[in-house]
Amino acid sequence: MKNQILAIANQKGGVGKTTTAINLASVLGLIPLRCLVVDVDPQGNATTGLGHVVAGEGGTFRMATGIEEPQQVITKTREAGVDLVSACSFLERLAEQGEASGIRALRSCLEQVETYYDLILLDCPPSAGGLTRMALAVADGVLIPTQSEPYALEGVQGILQVISNVQRDHKPELRVAGTVLTMFEPEQPFAWEMASHLRHRYGLKVWDTVIPRDSVVAKAAALGRSVIKTEPCSRAALSYIELAREILDHE
Ligand SMILES: Nc1ncnc2c1ncn2[C@@H]1O[C@H](COP(=O)(O)OP(=O)(O)OP(=O)(O)O)[C@@H](O)[C@H]1O
Ligand SMILES: [Mg+2]
Repeated sequence: MKNQILAIANQKGGVGKTTTAINLASVLGLIPLRCLVVDVDPQGNATTGLGHVVAGEGGTFRMATGIEEPQQVITKTREAGVDLVSACSFLERLAEQGEASGIRALRSCLEQVETYYDLILLDCPPSAGGLTRMALAVADGVLIPTQSEPYALEGVQGILQVISNVQRDHKPELRVAGTVLTMFEPEQPFAWEMASHLRHRYGLKVWDTVIPRDSVVAKAAALGRSVIKTEPCSRAALSYIELAREILDHE
């Protein structure tokens, strides 16, 4: 996973993309690896979740439109080793300005800063639209968080289609860096079937570590911190630590 740009994407909303981006970055930052989270979602949840205010134009928009240099829009966070490029609703405009130029701009920005980081995580919006396609086109791999519900399969299917379109149009070498089951509730009817569906129907790698549903996630989000920093011994924190270890061992 080191020296990579990893997009965290699923066109379905509320599946744990942002929570995974923040907490993976937080664990890796403690190793210590140098991580950059680039918020590519106009909702700006990774921005607030890392303790920053969603305001102005946001760093991702400013750097991708050349208003500021990438180095100038990167901010530190309270998480050790984790830096952030913030987002806000202005980002929608980036997608409207044309995909090819957006991709070129974003790629060039990341190229300028990637030597400073071991890993760059792109937190994508819940859509198959322009911003997600841009993020995928500049990434080396895609991590797909998903819940274990029958309807969630459609979201995974949707993002796989987007990935295959981006491979065709922009980046043949883009790869799927696996799926991670989030908000896992073992007693739910479809909980255990999901992994085998993803493996056998879609040929996907499913990380063995699942992220349990844990109320500490909402508590941490309200504080603008990771669960690792808020409650390091919580089930959610321990599972993100385990997930990071598993991904580091295999990627
Ligand atoms: N493991 C978990 N346990 C309990 N709640 C969780 C967990 N992971 C995420 N949540 C909650 O679920 C909601 C959605 O999570 P999150 O924002 O990470 O998803 P997302 O896929 O980034 O959403 P969006 O598509 O809107 O960007 C949030 O309220 C978050 O606090
Ligand atoms: Mg999100």
